[in-house]
Amino acid sequence: MRRITIPRPDDWHVHLRDGAALAAVAPFTARRFGRAIVMPNLRPPITTTEAARAYRHRILAALPPASGFEPLMTLYLTESTTPEEIARAKASGIVHGVKLYPAGATTHSDAGVADVDRTFAALERMAEVGLPLLVHGETPDPAVDPFDREARFLDDVLAPLAARFASLRIVVEHITTRHAVDFVRSARAGVAATITPQHLLHNRGALFAGGLRPHYYCLPVLKREADRCALVEAATGGESRFFLGTDSAPHERATKESACGCAGMFTAHAAIELYAEVFEAAGRLDRLAGFASRFGAEFYGLEPHRETLTLVEAPWTVPDRYAFGDGQLVPYRAGETVRWRIEAESGA
Ligand code: NCD
Ligand code: ZN
Repeated sequence: MRRITIPRPDDWHVHLRDGAALAAVAPFTARRFGRAIVMPNLRPPITTTEAARAYRHRILAALPPASGFEPLMTLYLTESTTPEEIARAKASGIVHGVKLYPAGATTHSDAGVADVDRTFAALERMAEVGLPLLVHGETPDPAVDPFDREARFLDDVLAPLAARFASLRIVVEHITTRHAVDFVRSARAGVAATITPQHLLHNRGALFAGGLRPHYYCLPVLKREADRCALVEAATGGESRFFLGTDSAPHERATKESACGCAGMFTAHAAIELYAEVFEAAGRLDRLAGFASRFGAEFYGLEPHRETLTLVEAPWTVPDRYAFGDGQLVPYRAGETVRWRIEAESGA
């Protein structure tokens, strides 16, 4: 039975939701990760430091007092975000990034940015104070093929933006293509990317395996096998520009299993275990610690954890459902096996 011990990992992109949904999912993330960059796409979105502070308290209140988990808050960038709000966010010490959703690109992005030029004053201040820009990198243009939306956004919007704001740190969130891997690899210093477990484990065939599979639908959508292979190479290659971000995004069962199903896959119940599968399959378990526990912290200017997490190769079956407020949550790989499990956690 193989074992691997790594510094406690962090999740650099997660959706924790709010209210009863928050209470249902936050413990899964806190059990595995020491910190997480928490997405601000609530309704209404988290657009101010004050709202981020209140949300942070709700997250901590949803966890056992001794969890030790630290939520790293983000602001939702709009065309009305002011430089003063950016300065307040940085000074608060609790906000670690500002999220750009192109308006209409994904779940709860209608308050997002339609014209990126209108955010330049905020971006300028972010570069000045050292607050990273976290990007949902897809054009929402319905005329662009859904499988090309990432590439189009990176080339048409993000490349000029990264050049214009040369000291702005940028995370291209949940990259899904070989094109994005190449884009990030060849970008200037200060540009990095997160990679989800589902984009490392599946290609778009998973969406159509024997019928339409709503629980494999997320945005950006799963891509080709060649893209998946490029992501695996990037994640397991020991390159510090690529780090862990699950994009775990829970939705109630009925809203996924629907004529118009929501985008988002819930993976928090097995997140680090799933990445261990990917690194194991690549013969690169020795590089899991860099990807999961070091590179992201380095990018955000934080120390890696001194506590550790031990994973053991001991297959377990994922439950069919978890409780989710008044409803149900169908986790990724429901009723199927995950090969690794958490064995032990240690103090510093
Ligand atoms: C996310 C959600 O549900 O909030 N969905 C998703 O498919 N990833 C939004 C997002 O990150 O795009
Ligand atoms: Zn997301």
